[in-house]
Amino acid sequence: MPVSWTPDLSIGVEKLDLQHQQIFAALDDLLAAMRQGKGKAEVGRTLAFLVGYVAEHFVMEERTMRESGYPGLESHRGEHEVFARDVRALKSVFDTYGATSVLAIDVTNRVVGWLRDHILRRDVEMARYLNSLPPRE
Ligand SMILES: [Fe+2]
Repeated sequence: MPVSWTPDLSIGVEKLDLQHQQIFAALDDLLAAMRQGKGKAEVGRTLAFLVGYVAEHFVMEERTMRESGYPGLESHRGEHEVFARDVRALKSVFDTYGATSVLAIDVTNRVVGWLRDHILRRDVEMARYLNSLPPRE
């Protein structure tokens, strides 16, 4: 089953919505590569891209929160750190055991589940704050 960003995940901040879509696309690429039994090198590349992209996205979100004086920055960043650690753990499981079906299930359930939950709670809350600020010159 494809994994995809769905419109209910829109937070109303365009650049962040676009990045969220990219993350889901990267997850879908990863799962497709695993499902199609692609070699370890190719699956590894899709996983490395996902890990890197998520890290960049978090940096960007955190910078946006800092620059806007968002009061929930620290706890939001705490969730990012837990997630980034989790993804790195999956990466080391992959490095050791390869693209097992257990890993595919973990990616589908844990990673996708976490992202949806985080976007719908924390990112929506952050976006509400960002969109309440007066427009910058
Ligand atoms: Fe976030």
